[in-house]
Amino acid sequence: MKHGKEKLVHLETIDSTNLFALKNFAEFADGTLIIADSQTNGRGRRGRKWISPPANIYASYVIKKQEGLAPVCASWIGCLASLNTLRSFAPKSDFWIKWPNDVFSGSKKISGVLCESHSAQNSNRVDGMIIGMGVDVNLTPKDIENAGISATSLFIETGKKTDIAKFAEILHDNLLTLSDMDQESLYEIWKRENRLLGKKILVRLENGEEISGIFKDIAEDGRLVLRIGQSRNRYFSSGDVSLEIPTD
Ligand code: BTN
Repeated sequence: MKHGKEKLVHLETIDSTNLFALKNFAEFADGTLIIADSQTNGRGRRGRKWISPPANIYASYVIKKQEGLAPVCASWIGCLASLNTLRSFAPKSDFWIKWPNDVFSGSKKISGVLCESHSAQNSNRVDGMIIGMGVDVNLTPKDIENAGISATSLFIETGKKTDIAKFAEILHDNLLTLSDMDQESLYEIWKRENRLLGKKILVRLENGEEISGIFKDIAEDGRLVLRIGQSRNRYFSSGDVSLEIPTD
């Protein structure tokens, strides 16, 4: 199989589109979108697995051109591209961004993003980013129940099946548009779409520690600013966030 010229690469089954993009990085032009029908080793954030049966979108977008593109911008681009694409298929649904990398509809996740950087062999210099996006497109309630996950899909939102090729095409257009934007504009949109800003939340760290506070702001470098008590701010660059439900 020869890649490089084509900007949209379609694979049947692969271990992970992100791994594939990283391994074959040199063969792909900037702006290439690689999609697979299913994945056998789909990767999620924090070393989790991303369940990847046929029916959904598994996509990795290759960014090469921007010298020094902040990794956080890659994740903004991936989430916003998923968000905009979902909105164009289900305009009546209420999609929103959940810091740091998810798209939700109501209280359920519909899309997650995993960005990974690429460096040439024997070099520490990052020469590109892979934006990996998983979107639940045609998953049925039964599929979700069988997988034992809490999630929704475009099918559940709209009651109809979506053409995956069409979804991939629009996702690709959105990625190309967003990756042409400057960091400041992306940051403005990113903040506007983060629904939990201003709310009382819990941040759960990888070591299990939970910190509660008000989601006060998102710093320009993407970190979550948590107001603890009256005057203390703590900054987080990763973590799982949930709404803190008052117990009294
Ligand atoms: C998360 O929410 O944990 C991120 C999930 C990212 C999944 C996508 S599917 C396409 C790409 N290839 C992978 O192995 N992972 C990402």
